[in-house]
Amino acid sequence: MSLLPDRSTLVWPASEDAIRQAADILRRGGLVVFPTETVYGLGADAENPAAVRAMFAAKGRPPDHPVIVHLAHADLIDELAAEVPALARQLAAAFWPGPMTLVVRRNHRVSDLVTGGLETVGLRVPSHPVAQALLRELQKPIAAPSANRFGRVSPTRAEHVIDELAGRVDVILDAGPCQVGLESTIIDVAGPQPAVLRPGVITPEQIASVLKTEVRKPATAAPRVPGCLPSHYAPRARVELVATTELDSRAEELAAAGRRVAVIAREPIAVHDSRIVVLQAPAADSQLARQLYTLLRRADELRCDLILTSLPEGPGLAAAIADRLERAAGPRI
Ligand code: TXA
Ligand code: MG
Repeated sequence: MSLLPDRSTLVWPASEDAIRQAADILRRGGLVVFPTETVYGLGADAENPAAVRAMFAAKGRPPDHPVIVHLAHADLIDELAAEVPALARQLAAAFWPGPMTLVVRRNHRVSDLVTGGLETVGLRVPSHPVAQALLRELQKPIAAPSANRFGRVSPTRAEHVIDELAGRVDVILDAGPCQVGLESTIIDVAGPQPAVLRPGVITPEQIASVLKTEVRKPATAAPRVPGCLPSHYAPRARVELVATTELDSRAEELAAAGRRVAVIAREPIAVHDSRIVVLQAPAADSQLARQLYTLLRRADELRCDLILTSLPEGPGLAAAIADRLERAAGPRI
């Protein structure tokens, strides 16, 4: 199997048979994109250094950015962690399988290639039935970042993956749109106090209620995870964040200056310039989370050079959506 970025990519509906064959391809060192409940992941056998290197090459990801290791079951955490604090077990019992990643101290079985040289590893037990079936069939951990080119918007549909990685992976298992739509909540439990490194659908409030203790939340817009650069999750179009009440006037001003503008708005807005594209976003946070990356990609497909939108307000999922939009609007690499 070729380890160069150049390979022919098969797109398979995620049937039982396709999952069995995909596991075989992983076993032989190949690259398989699979759906999870959050976003699609670009999988490689975590214990095969050549496969992990090929995965980094396919993504165009710098080698010092750690990737998450996916496990079939929470009990397998002991096979890769040097130490599992009691609170990690509490969180695992509460939220796995599900959209949560735990950063723990790693043992010798985890390679430097996967952790980017860090002494910790991010572990996740996904709940998506296809991810579960693939992990169970392979009977090994799967290292998988989101299945996009480095710095770009995570894919939440197989079509997004094709746009990003066709010709760079062996198989894409297609199981339709992802339920959650935002990447997992990352919780660092390797330090003295649990800390949320990346907000997600599992909120600091939910975590605190399981642990019966405060958790540290990330400071807004500060890079808190190695590999979490300010300009992550970015579409090609520039993203500008404006107050809801100014979306229409700012869009008209930019359109008048010759810009091709897309407005992602949660409430109907009236614009009087046919050059402005209004992409209606759902009002409910959970729906917006699910559709956010599709909306950002739609603006690119429509060849808009600027996206205007507003930050949702409030804690929980709204904060996770705001985090991704701030990164999309951040300075570019
Ligand atoms: O929902 C998700 O988490 C998806 C699906 C595929 O599981 N995966 C995902 O992976 O979003 P990726 O590589 O795009 O983002 C993983 C993030 C990176 O920002 C990385 O820096 C951080 O996790 N990370 C991984 N291992 C870490 C570690 N040991 N310490 C701190 N951060 C870590
Ligand atoms: Mg990613």
